[in-house]
Amino acid sequence: MAPPNTGTVLSADRLVKRFGDLTAVDDVSFIIRPGETYGLLGPNGAGKTTIISMVAGLIPADSGSVDVAGTRMDPAGTAAKRHLGLVPQELAIYPDLSAAKT
Ligand SMILES: Nc1ncnc2c1ncn2[C@@H]1O[C@H](COP(=O)(O)OP(=O)(O)OP(=O)(O)O)[C@@H](O)[C@H]1O
Ligand SMILES: [Mg+2]
Repeated sequence: MAPPNTGTVLSADRLVKRFGDLTAVDDVSFIIRPGETYGLLGPNGAGKTTIISMVAGLIPADSGSVDVAGTRMDPAGTAAKRHLGLVPQELAIYPDLSAAKT
């Protein structure tokens, strides 16, 4: 049975990320509730990967916060990361990974 559509699985609150003069992510907030499928759409360079990187704690936000299953994401910590899995597009397949038995 699907979980009730209440509570929050993942939330981002007012995320900002700057690279020098470029504001790559400008005040982004969202809430994802149990059972929801959430898509992040935008043109090349819109900031999707930067948002996901902050959500996963791979890079720190300049401001704002991320909560995963009620735990605040801290790039330096592990507590929130235990609730999260990520397959980044750049690393989905390792170049040296072979199906052949060696
Ligand atoms: N480490 C970085 N240093 C400097 N600029 C960066 C860095 N990472 C991303 N940017 C810039 O931030 C902006 C957002 O990039 P990001 O990769 O998040 O976009 P995206 O929506 O994932 O794009 P794509 O659809 O091409 O994957 C772009 O202008 C990009 O050049
Ligand atoms: Mg990207």
